[in-house]
Amino acid sequence: MSNHPIYLDCHATTPVDERVLAAMLPYFTEKFGNPSSISHVYGWEAEAAVKQTRETLAAAINATPEEIVFTSGATEANNLAIKGVAEAYFQKGQHIITIATEHNAVIDPCQYLKTLGFDITILPVKKDGLIDLSQLERAFRPETILVSVMAANNEIGVLQPLAEIGAICRDRQVLFHTDAAQAIGKIPLDVQAMKIDLMSLTAHKAYGPKGIGALYVRRRNPRVQIAPQQHGGGHERGMRSGTLYTPQIVGFGQAVEIALKEQNTETQRLTHLRQRLWEALSQLEKIHLNGHPTQRLPGNLNISVEGVDGAALLLGLQPVMAVSSGSACSSATTAPSHVLTALGNSQQLAYASVRFGIGRFNTEVEIDVVAKHAIATIQSLRKQATLV
Ligand SMILES: Cc1ncc(COP(=O)(O)O)c(C=O)c1O
Repeated sequence: MSNHPIYLDCHATTPVDERVLAAMLPYFTEKFGNPSSISHVYGWEAEAAVKQTRETLAAAINATPEEIVFTSGATEANNLAIKGVAEAYFQKGQHIITIATEHNAVIDPCQYLKTLGFDITILPVKKDGLIDLSQLERAFRPETILVSVMAANNEIGVLQPLAEIGAICRDRQVLFHTDAAQAIGKIPLDVQAMKIDLMSLTAHKAYGPKGIGALYVRRRNPRVQIAPQQHGGGHERGMRSGTLYTPQIVGFGQAVEIALKEQNTETQRLTHLRQRLWEALSQLEKIHLNGHPTQRLPGNLNISVEGVDGAALLLGLQPVMAVSSGSACSSATTAPSHVLTALGNSQQLAYASVRFGIGRFNTEVEIDVVAKHAIATIQSLRKQATLV
C-alpha cells in the first residue's frame, strides 16, 4: 500500500480494523455453523456469536436485541424500512416525507413507491444542509405514514437534529426512520431519547466488513409493522429471510464495540485534523465550506473551489490523496452532486468540490501533506485558467 495515495475517502468505506478481522476469522473455518441449526454445537456457537452482536448493536442505540434485524447493509435496511412500512401501512395513508440531501438508498425506494401511487414530499434543506423544522411541521398530512431523515450526511457530514424530528413525528403519531449508515460509532445515537422508530445501520463505514448491516425496528410504543421484502425461511422473525452471515455479523459487533470505546477520543482527534486541514485550505481565497461548520461528522470536510474545473481538480489531487467529489455511488455519473446543489451551490461549484473523509488511520503528518498538495494544485489550476 505504501505507494498508494493517502486514503481520505472514509465516507465511501473504511478498511477493516485488524482487531475486527481477528474476531471474524474463526467464524469462517472452525466455527462455521449455521446459526439456525438448533440441534448441534456448530449451530449453537454461531448463534451465540450472532446473539452477542445483536446485544452490542442494541446497547449502542439503546434498543433491545429483538429489535435488530440483520441485512446486507444500509441500502437493504433503507429499502426494508421504507417499502416495508409503505406496504404495511398503505391503508392508513400513502404519504411519505424525506429531505433532498438523502442518499439514493432512501431517495430511490421513495421514487419507486411514487410509481405505485404513493405521494412523496422531498423537503429542501437550509444553506447549511440542516432540515428546516418548521417546514417539516407544515408538510404533515392526515395520510402521512413515515418521515425519513438521515442522521449524518455522506457528502457534507451534516448531522440532522434527530431528537427534534423524533419529537415532532411522535406528536403526530407518524413513524420516524433514520439512515444512520454514516453515524453509527461516530456520534451518540439513542432510539428512546430521539424517538426513532426505524434505524438503518451498516458496518463498513465504521471499520467493519462490507455486506452486513441492520435495521432497528421498534417493538414497543409503538410496535412498528414492516412487510418483509425478502421471503424465505422466516429468519429475523420473518422480517428478512436468508441464512445469517455469521463472520460478517461478528465483525459488525466487534467494529461497533471498538468504535464506541474510542468514540470520545476519536471525535477530538478527528475534529482537530479536520480543523487543521480547513485552516490550511481556507488561507486560499474563494474556497467554500459545504455544510454546517460544527454540526457535522468530526472527520468530514467538504469544500467547493471557485475558479477551477472540477475534473481537473480531482485529477490533480489523485496522485497524493484518495478523495471524492460527491458520493461514491453517484461519482460514476456526470451529474453534479444532488446534495451540493440542494445547498444552493451552482453546478460549477458543485462540480469543483472535494469531500475529505478523515478516519481512524489518518495522521497529522498525512493531513499536512494533503493540505500542501491541495493548495499547490488549486493555485496551479487557477494560474492556468488565467493564462487561457
Ligand atoms: C448515508 C448512506 N446510506 C446508505 C448507504 C449504503 O450503505 P451500504 O453500502 O451498506 O448498502 C451509504 C453508503 O454509501 C450511505 O452513506
